[in-house]
Amino acid sequence: MKPITEAPKGTKDIMPKDIYKWQHVERKALSVAALYGFKEIRVPTFEHTELFLRGVGDTTDVVQKEMYTFKDKGDRSITLRPEGTSGVMRAAIENNLLSEKLPAKLCYNISCFRYEKPQAGRLREFHQFGIEELGSPSPASDAEVISLAKNVLDNLGIKGVTLFINSIGCKNCRPRYQQLLKAYLNEHEDSLCPICRQRLETNPLRIIDCKEKSCSKLIEQAPKMIDHLCPVCSDHFKELRERLDKMGIDYSLDPDIVRGLDYYTKTVFEFVTDCIGAQGTVCGGGRYDGLIEEIGGPKLPGVGFAMGIERLLMVMEACKAPFPHEEKCSLFIASMGKEASIEASSLVDRLRKEGICAESDNMERSLKAQMRFADKEGCLFTMVLGDSELADKRAVLKDMQTKETREIELDDYFCLKFGRILIEKQLKETLDAPLEKE
Ligand code: HAM
Repeated sequence: MKPITEAPKGTKDIMPKDIYKWQHVERKALSVAALYGFKEIRVPTFEHTELFLRGVGDTTDVVQKEMYTFKDKGDRSITLRPEGTSGVMRAAIENNLLSEKLPAKLCYNISCFRYEKPQAGRLREFHQFGIEELGSPSPASDAEVISLAKNVLDNLGIKGVTLFINSIGCKNCRPRYQQLLKAYLNEHEDSLCPICRQRLETNPLRIIDCKEKSCSKLIEQAPKMIDHLCPVCSDHFKELRERLDKMGIDYSLDPDIVRGLDYYTKTVFEFVTDCIGAQGTVCGGGRYDGLIEEIGGPKLPGVGFAMGIERLLMVMEACKAPFPHEEKCSLFIASMGKEASIEASSLVDRLRKEGICAESDNMERSLKAQMRFADKEGCLFTMVLGDSELADKRAVLKDMQTKETREIELDDYFCLKFGRILIEKQLKETLDAPLEKE
């Protein structure tokens, strides 16, 4: 039988050697969000399919082509979430978050599933950090959310990302615009790709997003939503721009951003980089004033965004953003003989209870092999326990970097003494490090 050791197409294992990078990005995003008053929410990986049909929109590519949908054993139609907003809205309604203090500010780190053609930066299972601010119709919320996204990118040391913004109007002004767009595209129907010919009937706005050359060429000359906003949407967009200007957030207007999900109204935005290839949108978001009501909640507006973590990591590598050092084991206690091995286990246990990362040998290796392991692991200090160390109740501690050695007593104060040595070393390294320019 062929061994099953290959992950499904479009999925990726995240290896222990890389996990600190993921944790760094996820924690940083959560901590920046906390500065803005956002609290983490955790929602199920799968939802009733109906939620996405209504939320994301049944004429979108995500719903029509990309959802992982199946019948469960109770004959219910279930879908692995292709995005986070719909599920978070469902949870906010179900748990009465919208009848408490507003705005409700929620954030999440989740995995999402879309049956797409995999390529660099595009996976079938991918991860998002997202936020949703619910309850405020004011452009103050849009600006706050955009500022948060920028702050996360800045805090991760990401450079060379451009913010594009647009307004796609509301249920009052969009239908009129859609008619204009449809009339224009009808005149050029022959130049549209076969899929966009269908979209002309179902959802002409989606044609603006089409990557086919003939379609995008037509779209260049097409009427733009931004020129046909109603006074309410126009004022909203104007005030958002004023607020971004005042906050010193640079942006470019892109009248062709429509986003791939149907729930958006008024503001839409994307942060885009050109340093990771074709899939350069690291963050996408916008306002969705009808979504909560659409899925059965109160008539309340919302605005939010999501960032693709895989793409963030790719940009961080590309622009050489700093990652924190991987946490190293502070002390490896090597041992010779059973008695010493038992003592080593007990010492590392004591250290761990004091919050110090320590290891001893569980593989019954030779002393030489134990030291090779400690070296490979990058342990900061090592110590060898044998018969004489057990008898004298003292051992030699070796700094693996400087090769300096010193004696340490294996008494009741061992953890305290080692902790002090560790702090001294870290302090010295910090003081010796060259000052970085801000
Ligand atoms: P989205 O634009 O579909 O928006 O996805 C947000 C981000 O997720 C993208 O900008 C990209 O970085 C990442 N992403 C999307 N698809 C993939 C994929 N196949 N592989 C890797 N990364 C991907 C949403 O999902 C909305 N729910 C965002 C939102 C929240 N709007 C308002 N609130």
